[in-house]
Amino acid sequence: MSTEDKTEQMRKVKDDVVDLTESPLYEYRQENGYLPVIGEGNHDADIMFIGEAPGKTEAETGRPFCGAAGNLLNKLLSHIDLDRDSVYITNVLKDRPPDNRDPKQKEIDVYVPFLRRQIRIIEPDVIATLGRFGMEFVEDEFGIDCGGTISQVHGDVFTIEEDDKEITFIPLFHPAVGLYDGSQRDTLKEDFVVLQDHVS
Ligand code: URA
Repeated sequence: MSTEDKTEQMRKVKDDVVDLTESPLYEYRQENGYLPVIGEGNHDADIMFIGEAPGKTEAETGRPFCGAAGNLLNKLLSHIDLDRDSVYITNVLKDRPPDNRDPKQKEIDVYVPFLRRQIRIIEPDVIATLGRFGMEFVEDEFGIDCGGTISQVHGDVFTIEEDDKEITFIPLFHPAVGLYDGSQRDTLKEDFVVLQDHVS
């Protein structure tokens, strides 16, 4: 797909999410004057990051990972000399769940078709998930089993076979864990170095 077609397709994804009145989170979005958070970055990116759901700052700005967890993500990207503008960043959910609670299955089901479209548009060589919900999405979507919980398999490298193409999949901890537990920041850094080895 040409870059122009990708941008056009991504605009359609955005329009569809903006109009998603059937989402269980639509009313909460409207009541609070929040914006849906579609994703951000290079539509020709080799690497796609998939987080969980927008937080308050993200819903206020319409940009993924721009609050405290985003600041740590930016540091982790710098640590491996990866320019944030060169990657694509999105989430499983495109709207903020109340009080940042975990996504519910019926919410995941509503938003997954949009994430699926985004993966087809970006055509990434590498998918790096940030946290449990992204990892579980990839397992379900591509029929792979990482063989453990995120605590057991973070930083491991998997291969997804998709339409005659191989996609490298690396489940990572959510950067928020590094905000609450300093020791996990080192783990995140080590896992990002694994990712660096798979970015050309
Ligand atoms: N946490 C996420 O999972 N996504 C964001 O965009 C921000 C915080």
